Amino acid sequence: MNVAVDPPRTTPDTTPGSADRIPLPRYANGWFQVAYSHELEAGDVRPLRYFGRDMVLFRTESGAVHVLDAFCPHLGAHLGHGGKICGEDVVCPFHAWSFNGAGDCTSVPYAAKIPPKAKLGTWHVRELNGLIMLWHHTEGLAPTWEVPALDEYGHAEWTPYETREWNIRSHNQEMAENAVDSAHFRYLHGTSNMPEAGAEISDHILHVVSTTGMKTPRGGVDGQITVDAYGFGFTTTRFTGLVETLLVASVTPIDEEYVHMRFAFTIRKLGHHNATSGVGRAFIAEVTRQVEQDIPIWEHKVYLPRPVLCDGDGPIGVYRRWVKQFYTA
Ligand code: FES
Ligand SMILES: [Fe+2]
Repeated sequence: MNVAVDPPRTTPDTTPGSADRIPLPRYANGWFQVAYSHELEAGDVRPLRYFGRDMVLFRTESGAVHVLDAFCPHLGAHLGHGGKICGEDVVCPFHAWSFNGAGDCTSVPYAAKIPPKAKLGTWHVRELNGLIMLWHHTEGLAPTWEVPALDEYGHAEWTPYETREWNIRSHNQEMAENAVDSAHFRYLHGTSNMPEAGAEISDHILHVVSTTGMKTPRGGVDGQITVDAYGFGFTTTRFTGLVETLLVASVTPIDEEYVHMRFAFTIRKLGHHNATSGVGRAFIAEVTRQVEQDIPIWEHKVYLPRPVLCDGDGPIGVYRRWVKQFYTA
């Protein structure tokens, strides 16, 4: 029997997944954000999934933050789902074995002896600038550099963070290339000119300075943009011109397909509170509009190891040299 089937009305999205479009090592080495400080109070225990791994994030009663592998060595419970804080330890919800921040089992309430293999894998963590950062290294090596403390964070002259976040089917390297891709600002985002960008490498830091025109409700404004990328996970972007703004951006790989991008904006306060919030809101809306134009490009493009570039392109070659250090060969 023949069954009539209506033809599909739209072309399905047949774009291959991130791993096929972007054949780069998926998980680079460096510091990556896993939470904001304000999301984790003393006594909180949360599940995390980044780098294709399951982990548990917790803050002890004294305020220390730790990340451990998620699965209890006893019978495999996930400590992030129902685990509780007792003093400086996290207690498994299944049979109440306790683990300290170094991953050691400190107590088995119904045993005379703690099994020597009762241990959880640990991750290096830093908490600064209102962010909780995790060190990822493919070979498990200890951190070789640090994320800097930002003068603007917590300063009386700067507003508290205003945050935005997205899960995106792309790769850190592809997304960070935006900063040096001068031409896309004009042709994708519609800025009033094409920024002149210069890029310099200093070890793990990429420093990019651009001048650009931004569209605002009050017309075009010339400004300077200074980007400092500390590896692939943590970038500061300082805008001057209309209003002084700092964007703290982080991108953390979730799995083979998705990355988690977080933006935190802080604005230097103007004389009048309403002026700060009005101008700040317009600025945040403009940056958000630009990101939402980037996302469909990122989610469908392929990574070209040898792109065909022209003399008007930004310092993409410098960028591509810088990125190599974050992969284990
Ligand atoms: S599974 Fe964690 S204590 Fe048993
Ligand atoms: Fe962009």
